[in-house]
Amino acid sequence: MTTASITTAPIPVIVNGATGKMGREAIKAIAAAEDMVLIGALARNPALLGQDIGEVLGYGALEVPITNDKEALFAMGSQQPEVPVVLDLTHPAVIYENVRAAIAYGIFPVIGTTGLSPDQLAELDAFAQKSSLGGLVIPNFAIGMVLMQQAAIQASRFYDHVEIIELHHDQKADAPSGTAIKTAQMLGELGKTFNLPKVQETETLAGARGGDGARAFASTASGCRGWWLTSKLFLANRGKPTACATTPRTGVAICQGCCSVCAGCGKCGD
Ligand SMILES: NC(=O)c1ccc[n+]([C@@H]2O[C@H](COP(=O)([O-])OP(=O)(O)OC[C@H]3O[C@@H](n4cnc5c(N)ncnc54)[C@H](OP(=O)(O)O)[C@@H]3O)[C@@H](O)[C@H]2O)c1
Repeated sequence: MTTASITTAPIPVIVNGATGKMGREAIKAIAAAEDMVLIGALARNPALLGQDIGEVLGYGALEVPITNDKEALFAMGSQQPEVPVVLDLTHPAVIYENVRAAIAYGIFPVIGTTGLSPDQLAELDAFAQKSSLGGLVIPNFAIGMVLMQQAAIQASRFYDHVEIIELHHDQKADAPSGTAIKTAQMLGELGKTFNLPKVQETETLAGARGGDGARAFASTASGCRGWWLTSKLFLANRGKPTACATTPRTGVAICQGCCSVCAGCGKCGD
């Protein structure tokens, strides 16, 4: 009988979008982790090419030069004794091609970038399966958001109306966010129909009532410096108090009985 060997070698990681807001946090975490080793940093600013990513980000030397040559880096990665992971934190415009290239080189994609369409996701899934390669799509790494999604699923049994409202900084490329879409999908998978119209509804401006199912509304605000400001989930039944879950930047707060349209009652800690 043969026994599968479990490797304890650190996972080699390439970060694409290494100098962005998420990329720099990812590199800090990878540099501090014992079970991961950074082997590549992709960024597109020509002034930074060849410089050590750790030095550029102010973390001290990591001996990983910044490159914009994705193919060469993936080819190098595919020669590693341990299969590398590429963590993509770039832009919706390039994520599909990035992930296809990673899979073609046998590199596991971990997709933090949001904005892939359902068709693109399905195509990448099929391509990864054909290549016998696993991957992860994680629209939000924040624990508070995962808790809010779980809370939404629990609470949704008791409510017929749900709306997801989010506010982002003015550099947010996709709307609604991957997080809002994922939350709506999770609620949709429960098989319950939310938001049945109570009157004959007219939408004069397309999207004014939000996306289908669990309605999602996305706003951006100039001058906001956070990665995202807040995500709010409203669950409501006619004649009953509204439940509201909020993730401010640092956590999740859930309360019962706040206003159906937030007027800053403060009960949810926001
Ligand atoms: N999964 C999560 O938890 C999570 C959390 C927050 C954000 N996100 C998502 O992660 C992605 C990155 O967010 P961020 O806040 O880090 O954005 P960001 O600060 O703008 O960083 C994006 C990075 O990607 C690079 N980039 C942008 N457009 C590119 C293109 N067309 N080709 C190649 N590289 C490109 C940028 O390079 P330059 O520096 O040269 O512009 C930068 O390094 C977004 O999709 C965002 O929605 C995910």
